[in-house]
Amino acid sequence: MIPSVVEEGNKPFLLAKTSGNFFYFCAMETVVSGIRPTGVVHLGNYLGAIRNFVRMQDDSRYKMFTFIADYHALTTHTDAKELRSNVKSALAIYLGCGLDPDKATIYIQSHLPQIPELYLLFNMLAYKGELEKVPTFKEKVRAQEQSGKSINAGLLTYPVLMAVDIIIHRATKVPVGKDQESHLELARNFVNRFNFMFNNGETYFPEPYGFNYGEELLKVPSLDGTGKMSKSAENPNSAIYLLDEDEVIRKKIMRAVSDSGPTMPNQPKPEVIQNLFDLLDLASSAETIAYFDEQYNQCNIRYGDLKKQLAQDLIAMVSPIRKRIQDVLHDEVYLKKVAKQGAEVACESAQATLDGAKELVGLNYF
Ligand code: TYM
Repeated sequence: MIPSVVEEGNKPFLLAKTSGNFFYFCAMETVVSGIRPTGVVHLGNYLGAIRNFVRMQDDSRYKMFTFIADYHALTTHTDAKELRSNVKSALAIYLGCGLDPDKATIYIQSHLPQIPELYLLFNMLAYKGELEKVPTFKEKVRAQEQSGKSINAGLLTYPVLMAVDIIIHRATKVPVGKDQESHLELARNFVNRFNFMFNNGETYFPEPYGFNYGEELLKVPSLDGTGKMSKSAENPNSAIYLLDEDEVIRKKIMRAVSDSGPTMPNQPKPEVIQNLFDLLDLASSAETIAYFDEQYNQCNIRYGDLKKQLAQDLIAMVSPIRKRIQDVLHDEVYLKKVAKQGAEVACESAQATLDGAKELVGLNYF
């Protein structure tokens, strides 16, 4: 049975044939997600988000849109040369991680003029009070104030732009890490407000939800003991970057913070140790995890052995990705072709959504 996809307006359907002569339709769910081109992409970005983009492009239940959030980068990073280079490498990273332009629509956010237009409309619906309460906004305000920088309005309305990224294709699933949860909650508030104000409470924009294949959204820990792995970390040794060479990965893992070991059987794991086990969960086999868990519970654990194994398993995961990224990183012709192909498809989908939204708002006079 070979399922084929037919387009009906803006809603794709999967057309399947059963063993008899029956045909049935099941709607493909639209999926949107992106990353900011603000630094070197790390293991947290890969495991929390990009790995799912790749799985979802291959899953016939989903229609995958994925993009590079260059406008979002401008809220904090304003070096034009750096932006250009980061956008190209983010594109190469997508391809190196396994995204396929013939299976997923891959584009650059600023290539869609419909996004700033819908963003403008949604800025009329978003309340200053709710935007000021967003945890990531508060964190950024603290950081900007400490370094003596002003807070721009784009930083405050960051979640509005992010909501628009998602709803511009009327997506329902958003593969992201745990840190994006509050943004998705706001996105749901915005779409419900729009539907209520302009569509008699009927759904024009569906509610988007975070997604991680049957599991909780992930928070990949940093290697320095606390918090999540992050692009803006002051200590580059606290993150594994997708472009790190094998030896660099090994050194970073061997230096990851641990402690002097458990003193009682079945002792709860302190955060720094739980972090190592969390990474093991993401990279290693069930037997490996069970083995080190038992060693820990029996107070026989040697963290050096755990780290060696973890480094080996992470290298096995990251090394082929790094090689594929390097293969396309400087192929500007190919990267441009991918971005152009994606923009064409994404613009068409975005325009259909925008036209409908403008009509509902009353921005259609003649
Ligand atoms: P960004 O660029 O900070 O991160 C990209 C993706 O990586 C996930 N992530 C993590 N997941 C698990 N553990 C970690 N340590 C970790 N660090 C980062 C993030 O959750 C994210 O999924 N606001 C977004 C970009 C964006 C977007 C969107 C995402 C703009 N518009 C629309 C989805 C839909 C961001 O800053 O991602």
